[in-house]
Amino acid sequence: MAKPKIVICLGSSCFARGNEENIRVVEAYLKENSYEDDVDVELSGTLCQGRCAEGPNVVIDGRLYSKVDPGVMLELLRELLPPRA
Ligand code: FES
Repeated sequence: MAKPKIVICLGSSCFARGNEENIRVVEAYLKENSYEDDVDVELSGTLCQGRCAEGPNVVIDGRLYSKVDPGVMLELLRELLPPRA
């Protein structure tokens, strides 16, 4: 099975709107549930293509999610990677 891929936009707008916190949420979740080696997490500025106003933006397996606050981030993670802890 291919590794799921999570891309977190690090453009300044998304970063300020909540992706700084989302990085911590993702890292903590992967660690707590021993998924660190099963997922590719990419921190990227390349999502910034006129979507800043809808941020923070996160792409999971090619699908764009907008307005991802830490609560939504956690829900997306639970869906993608069922909790093991
Ligand atoms: S900063 Fe993320 S889309 Fe522009």
